[in-house]
Amino acid sequence: MGKSAQKIVILTGAGISAESGLGTFRDEGGLWAQHRIEDVATPEGFARDPGLVHGFYNARRAQAAGAQPNAAHQALARLQAEHPGEVVIVTQNVDGLHEAGGASRVLHMHGTLAGALCAACGHRWVAPMEMHPGQPCPACAAPQGRPDVVWFGEMPYFMEEIYAHLAAADLFAAIGTSGEVYPAAAFVDEAHLAGAHTVELNLEPSATASRFSERRFGPASETVPAWVAELLRSPQAAKSPP
Ligand code: APR
Repeated sequence: MGKSAQKIVILTGAGISAESGLGTFRDEGGLWAQHRIEDVATPEGFARDPGLVHGFYNARRAQAAGAQPNAAHQALARLQAEHPGEVVIVTQNVDGLHEAGGASRVLHMHGTLAGALCAACGHRWVAPMEMHPGQPCPACAAPQGRPDVVWFGEMPYFMEEIYAHLAAADLFAAIGTSGEVYPAAAFVDEAHLAGAHTVELNLEPSATASRFSERRFGPASETVPAWVAELLRSPQAAKSPP
C-alpha cells in the first residue's frame, strides 16, 4: 500500500465567485470602494445604524440568490468527489456557491448570507431574504436578529477545526483571496509548518504570494479546473510544476 491519499485543504476568497458576478472587496470598484467597512462590517456600525447594515446584506443576499456557481466551484466539488483523500474547503465567502456547485464539506469561517443570528440568545435560523432593524428572534423574541456574518473584530468560525486540518495537510491551496485579512492570510504558514505543498491560484499575486511554493495566475474558472484535472490524473502532480 503506497502513501495514503493526500489530504487537501483549500482556502477560497471572493475571487472564486467574481466570475459568478459577485463583487470582490478590494479589486477596482470593489465592495470596500463603495462602502466603509466600519459602517457595514463591524458590530459598532450595526449598533450605530442597523438599517444601513441590513440594507448592505439584503442587497448582497439578493445578488447571491441570483448567482450561479462557475467552473471553479464545480471543479472543487469534483475534486471532493473523486480524490481518494480528504478534501476540505474553507471559505471566507458568505455566498452559497460552493454548495450550489456540488461541494459537500465547506467551512464558512466568515459565516453566511443565508444565516441569521440572534445577538441576544445566540439562536441561529435561516435568514429571510430581507432583514430589518428590530428583527425578532424566533426563539427568544428579542428584536436582535442580525446577519450570521463574522464582522471585523469578531472571532471567525471553525478556527480550531481549521487549524487541525492545516496541521494534517499534504497540499494547501489558496484560491481568489488577496491575503490581506487574518487569520486566513496566515493559513499558508500553518500549512508550511505541516510540511504541505502550497499553491496560490489567483488573478494576480496576492499579498502573501511569496509564501507559497507554487503560484498559478489567471481567472479561477480556468486555473482551478486545470489544476483539479492535473491532481486527479496523478496526485503527485500537485508538486512543483515541471
Ligand atoms: N479569478 C481568480 N482570482 C480573482 C478573480 C478571478 N476571476 N477576480 C479577482 N480575483 C482575486 C483578486 O486578485 C484578489 O486577490 O481575488 C482576490 C479578492 O481579494 P478580496 O477582494 O480582498 O477578497 P478576499 O480575499 O476574499 O477578502 C477576505 O476580507 O473584507 C473581508 O470578510 C471579507 O471575506 C472577506 C475577507
